[in-house]
Amino acid sequence: MLKPEVEDGEQRLADPQFRADVLDGLAAKPRAIPARWFYDLRGSELFEEITDLPEYYPTRTERAILEVACPAVAEIAGRGRAVVEFGSGSSTKTPILLRAVAPDAYVPIDISGAFLRESSRLLSDQFPELLILPFEADFMRPMTLPRAIAAVPKLGFFPGSTIGNMIPLMAVDLLRAMRTSLGVGAMLLVGMDRIKDPAVLERAYDDPAGVTAAFNLNLLERINRELAGTIPVEAFRHRAIWNDDRARIEMHLEATRDVAFDVDGRDFAMAAGETIHTENSHKYGGRDARILLRSGGWTPIAEWTDPDGLFAVYLAEAQAVRAAP
Ligand code: AVJ
Repeated sequence: MLKPEVEDGEQRLADPQFRADVLDGLAAKPRAIPARWFYDLRGSELFEEITDLPEYYPTRTERAILEVACPAVAEIAGRGRAVVEFGSGSSTKTPILLRAVAPDAYVPIDISGAFLRESSRLLSDQFPELLILPFEADFMRPMTLPRAIAAVPKLGFFPGSTIGNMIPLMAVDLLRAMRTSLGVGAMLLVGMDRIKDPAVLERAYDDPAGVTAAFNLNLLERINRELAGTIPVEAFRHRAIWNDDRARIEMHLEATRDVAFDVDGRDFAMAAGETIHTENSHKYGGRDARILLRSGGWTPIAEWTDPDGLFAVYLAEAQAVRAAP
């Protein structure tokens, strides 16, 4: 996950994009703020805590799948590839892939340069022989990768069900951008959370210890801290709802009474029961996932799941352009 470049509570200029997203999002109907803003220092710590919760199965399940899948991926993808990780986090999953594939180079892509340098340094301690080329970019857009790996076939890596945060339209745009960036002959290894009993999903996103609630509510604290907000945080409660029609968990912050507050000098009012939509976490069945991949220009060639079918990892190859069916 992304980590902030400065310590919590430190005086700083708020990110202008954060300000714009919050002001627009609070004024919109329905109100919504993009999930990427969860991850300030406190939010990143809380997310790490979430991944250790007994109810939050995705992280440990995907890691176990990758232990089995990566040696097979190495067989299929072959030698001499460059691994390109999109939104490389403080992920404990990357070493599993790097150990199995033994790539020619590893290119972590992240929008935060400071975070990239830190995580690359930690990885180079673990893989002293590996050529690591950190690349600062917004991976939602097609990009020109470092010249050093221009002639090397790529293996994209997009774990963590991060793709689930996007509505299908955005997910397809991203997959297409990845195909363009990674080029001819590329492969992609991507993790997606699966559709399952809504009770299991809702518990994973509304744990009894209240860690996910704290993670969601921290967004309001962050707004108060960084955008001179006066939001009465105690007047909001965390909600995690399964939207069956759209096959996604939605997280909301619900006002428990009528509230009025200001952010960055602008006034807002919410009635009791109104919510701010803070996250979507889309879930995909096997066919859903394969259609999504094909829609983005990727042909699925292998997939792995855990014994309970909670989570899945897909290997796909870049579809060559052809007009015929
Ligand atoms: C990091 C986006 C994969 O959707 O499961 C965890 C974030 N939100 N608990 C997810 C999250 C609430 C997580 N992703």
